[in-house]
Amino acid sequence: MNLLAVVSSLRKGKSTDKLVDKAIEGALSKNPDINVKKIYLSDYKIGYCKNCLTCRDSKTAEPYAICTIRDDMDILVKDIHDSDLLIWGTPIHMGYIPSILMTFIERFVWLFAKPEGKHLTLTNCPTPRSNKKRKSITIITNGIVPPIYRMFCDEATHIIKETVKETLNGDNLGSLYAGAIEKRGVECYLNKAYKLGMKLV
Ligand SMILES: Cc1cc2nc3c(=O)[nH]c(=O)nc-3n(C[C@H](O)[C@H](O)[C@H](O)COP(=O)(O)O)c2cc1C
Repeated sequence: MNLLAVVSSLRKGKSTDKLVDKAIEGALSKNPDINVKKIYLSDYKIGYCKNCLTCRDSKTAEPYAICTIRDDMDILVKDIHDSDLLIWGTPIHMGYIPSILMTFIERFVWLFAKPEGKHLTLTNCPTPRSNKKRKSITIITNGIVPPIYRMFCDEATHIIKETVKETLNGDNLGSLYAGAIEKRGVECYLNKAYKLGMKLV
């Protein structure tokens, strides 16, 4: 079983990274044989999506379409494809996900999804190309907003959850909102991250 942990904080060893490590620890406590790969998006060269729509319009029967851009997404797309379990660790930037994560998501959405989904009266929505099921958890950190005000400062969980569901057949098993870490520090959230990781397995 492959666990892919994606860290979009540019600060290695800080809050998001620490909580992701705890969640990995929790997952491994349930199954030590899990094959873990943790990636920092900042270590990879990820160009912007050019909106050529080659991937979206691909009729491939493969689990994912091929992007026209050749960069480190070639490695990351393979990692996503191989994953069974996903951990998303991200800071909040201006209430949303940081641009590095958005760039990453924009690049893989239509690789793993085809435009055959339907929502209410909307057609051509993303739906997974592959039947492979995945399980996913999300860890969000922010500097000043405490969890009680999450509703005002958390577009991140929603976008990750929807993307995982509509592109990767992912079941989102839970999320941790580690708020106000500038004041509270990260230690008070470590146990929650560990338990969330356990839930993944
Ligand atoms: C450009 C930018 C925007 C930010 N926006 C918010 C915000 O809207 N709300 C908030 O509480 N913290 C905000 N922060 C603080 C980060 O969320 C916080 O530093 C981060 O969670 C720390 O994670 P890390 O220790 O893994 O780097 C922002 C930080 C940056 C750099």
